[in-house]
Amino acid sequence: MAKLWSGRFSKDSSKLLDEFNASIPFDQKLWEQDIRGSKAHSDMLCEIGVLSAEDRDAIHRGLDEIACEILEGRFEFKLSDEDIHMAIEGALIERIGDAGKRLHTARSRNDQVALDFRLFVLQSNQQIRSKLCALIDTLLKIASNHTETLMPGMTHLQHAQPINFGFHLVAWCCAFKRDVERLQASYERHNYSPLGSGALAGVPYRTNRESVAHNLGFIAPTLNAMDSVSDRDFALDLLYEIAMVMMHISRVAEELVLWSSYEFGFVSFSDEYSTGSSIMPQKKNPDVAELLRGKSGRTYGNLIALLTVMKGLPLAYNKDTQEDKEGVFDSVQTALISLEILEASLQTLTIHTDRMHQMALIGHISATDLADFLVQSCGIPFREAHHITGEVVAYAESRGVDLSELAEDEILGFDSRIKTGVKQALDLHTSMNARDSLGGTSTKQTLAQIQILQQWLTLKAKDHNG
Ligand code: ARG
Repeated sequence: MAKLWSGRFSKDSSKLLDEFNASIPFDQKLWEQDIRGSKAHSDMLCEIGVLSAEDRDAIHRGLDEIACEILEGRFEFKLSDEDIHMAIEGALIERIGDAGKRLHTARSRNDQVALDFRLFVLQSNQQIRSKLCALIDTLLKIASNHTETLMPGMTHLQHAQPINFGFHLVAWCCAFKRDVERLQASYERHNYSPLGSGALAGVPYRTNRESVAHNLGFIAPTLNAMDSVSDRDFALDLLYEIAMVMMHISRVAEELVLWSSYEFGFVSFSDEYSTGSSIMPQKKNPDVAELLRGKSGRTYGNLIALLTVMKGLPLAYNKDTQEDKEGVFDSVQTALISLEILEASLQTLTIHTDRMHQMALIGHISATDLADFLVQSCGIPFREAHHITGEVVAYAESRGVDLSELAEDEILGFDSRIKTGVKQALDLHTSMNARDSLGGTSTKQTLAQIQILQQWLTLKAKDHNG
């Protein structure tokens, strides 16, 4: 069939051009959005008297049939159709004739693609948020069971101070919560309909862009037609937000890789979410976590690629923007599957609390508590307290035990001002719970943080804006 735009051409396009120019191999993913947009557009054309009710009904029926065919895999996507917009419009005309030819009145592919892609981006934004919330929910459930599980808190990957495992998980949750909020903010920023902008300058019909916008679930139409057809900020915001999500996931994944090693031994992945080695029969590899760590790379690439496409583009629409889609599809798919598998592997993770405790006994991590005790309970100036603590640590070291394992008498011997009760202060649980300042690691503070996040999640679940 001749191309829908072939009127002023006398020769067919070359096959090479068709291959180079077409977006149908990838933008067929937007078929649902395209059909939704066309239905809303035809409703509006009917409302303003440009289409008869019969034509509108025929268009709706035709589009429904096409949707069925696509869903059932019976629709043939042809390279010669160039893109999803022309494929669907062409198929509609084949089916319903003249009514189909009237559908493209008062619209252009430029506002059509801007609409379809924006709908896809907004929908993906919601899906990613809902997966993030599910992940946070799972993390909070695990965290609530481990608010007394001691582990070494680290800085520079060195044992620093005792924390509880739940507290560590809550730290992850905070990052994912910010991701949800970032996505929510850009959802609101971009929830405007570009349809009706025409090619670049609006259309010479008395259209009702408000009704189309509301019909499609947007807050309102966009302001300026030229901006509407050339803007891809909505896609860039999503790419950036996904890059952030994946950066956070990569940090979580890195800790899981470390923790599942023999050296740490804090967690084991279930067999369902581990892989073996083709040569070393004994091995169980954390491939899931490693892939999660590695997947961030492609999402950063997708962001930079689209930023580069958009840089320096003159207004309004340019074909360059056709390059906006594949990276977004890839980032969205990457984020969705990553969030899902991360949650699933956490749900089935075995947590070795004994090993965490054992590791907390390495590195004299209650040394700060000894110095604080000498200052607060014994009236020793901090500089001296620091020095005495150093001596006690060296002594524990020479005996091959942790500071928290020394007997009270052994510590009292270091300075006559040291008061009894010092041993208790060095107990790891006491030390963890001493950090009871707002946001701190004490069991009480951790539980409070969990509760706040759970309340936030409940509110999110009620928020119908996704
Ligand atoms: N396939 C095109 C894209 O993805 C649709 C818009 C084409 N508009 C045009 N005037 N060539 O951007």
